[in-house]
Amino acid sequence: DQTRQIAQTLDEFRLSKAQLLEVKKRMRVEIENGLKKKTHDTATVKMLPTFVRSTPDGTENGDFLALDLGGTNFRVLLVRIRSGKRRSVEMHNKIYAIPIEVMQGTGEELFDHIVYCISDFLDYMGMKNARLPLGFTFSFPCKQTSLDAGILVNWTKGFKATDCEGEDVVDLLREGIKRKEEFDLDVVAVVNDTVGTMMTCAYEEATCEVGLIAGTGSNACYMEEMRNIEMVEGDKGRMCVNMEWGAFGDNGCLDDIRTKYDRAVDENSLNEGKQRYEKMCSGMYLGEIVRNILIDLTKRGFLFRGQISETLKTRGIFETKFLSQIESDRLALLQVRAILQQLGLDSTCDDSIIVKEVCGTVSRRAAQICGAGMAAVVDKIRENRGLDHLEITVGVDGTLYKLHPHFSRIMHQTVKELAPKCDVNFLLSEDGSGKGAALITAVGVRQRELEL
Ligand code: BG6
Ligand code: GLC
Repeated sequence: DQTRQIAQTLDEFRLSKAQLLEVKKRMRVEIENGLKKKTHDTATVKMLPTFVRSTPDGTENGDFLALDLGGTNFRVLLVRIRSGKRRSVEMHNKIYAIPIEVMQGTGEELFDHIVYCISDFLDYMGMKNARLPLGFTFSFPCKQTSLDAGILVNWTKGFKATDCEGEDVVDLLREGIKRKEEFDLDVVAVVNDTVGTMMTCAYEEATCEVGLIAGTGSNACYMEEMRNIEMVEGDKGRMCVNMEWGAFGDNGCLDDIRTKYDRAVDENSLNEGKQRYEKMCSGMYLGEIVRNILIDLTKRGFLFRGQISETLKTRGIFETKFLSQIESDRLALLQVRAILQQLGLDSTCDDSIIVKEVCGTVSRRAAQICGAGMAAVVDKIRENRGLDHLEITVGVDGTLYKLHPHFSRIMHQTVKELAPKCDVNFLLSEDGSGKGAALITAVGVRQRELEL
């Protein structure tokens, strides 16, 4: 009976192919809403223009700084790109911590901290006087009117700094640099991490025209036809669109597949009601879904001898790396118990079996709905080009994709099943999105010189 009740609880997370096709179909509807002028303002999937009009062609050249803010690590990078036959990219980077008080303090404190890190990096590289062009990977939704202007629509993930929403983050960065009065920089581009990832991968593989992040957050971008992007003048060629698909479902369209655990995670988050799809499929939230299920199962007496420990009440304990370890098939149950022990959870052998099953069920659904979203994207591209069959590469990055033992495989398989007319090749980004941001900056600088 206990086994049956646990199975029933987890059944809610098991989606049929019909349900996944429905998710794909709804994503397609939201994509259209975001692209069309009439529905854009109220659309949940915002389909933000990026002003990136092509993928790299190997002619990019120069030395650039890049910032990479919004994922697990904040980095400052120096990227040296050389064009021509023996084209190459050389990168130097340093990771800096962003304390939670800074993520959730004032905007001025956040940008002062960022500028402080740049300053430290320039000292470290011995380049204080260089005035390099800079590409700013800023992994949050930004309304762009050009390559170097982006108004933060709203914070997502773990950020909540005041006085930034509604502001141009490039201005905020420039003001921070001015306040410091130590060095000067030329901010050329603001870039979403999906776009940076697509560009990083496209430098190696020209068929890459989609970017996907399955990390702390979840999002995708792709090269859309200009004629379909009603928010930008002009009908010629293509432009990369930052979908901000994490907000899919914010109008209630996924409510039939959301569980009470998803709702609990949402209610306990910094942005209630927002990023509902992201909260079902990204690293920052999967552990929280698991934790909420475990609390419920414990309350019902099926786990941990019915005792809810302080640990289990602690938000954020199940980080992606722990879920990944727990689900690794190479680990014996004894080792799963050791991990739980490390987290402060005393488990029996039976407990560890249940915990592993809960983790597996939650991450499988995540991979499947992420795959359903991607299936909608590649089919849209295929239709844009009037093709019966599309071959395309998706550049991917993110801790969930990289660390989890099953996420990538299940996601790939789902795309294959739901978009059978597309042959999708997933390419793991090796160098992060900073490299892509530098490539975009290179094009931006060249463009500006042509216009002068
Ligand atoms: C990295 C990018 O490679 O992937 C980051 O450079 C990005 O900017 C990240 O945000 C996504 O992964 P995660 O798991 O760190 O959020
Ligand atoms: C969040 C952000 C988005 C970013 C994604 C992955 O969804 O809103 O801009 O691309 O996380 O980091």
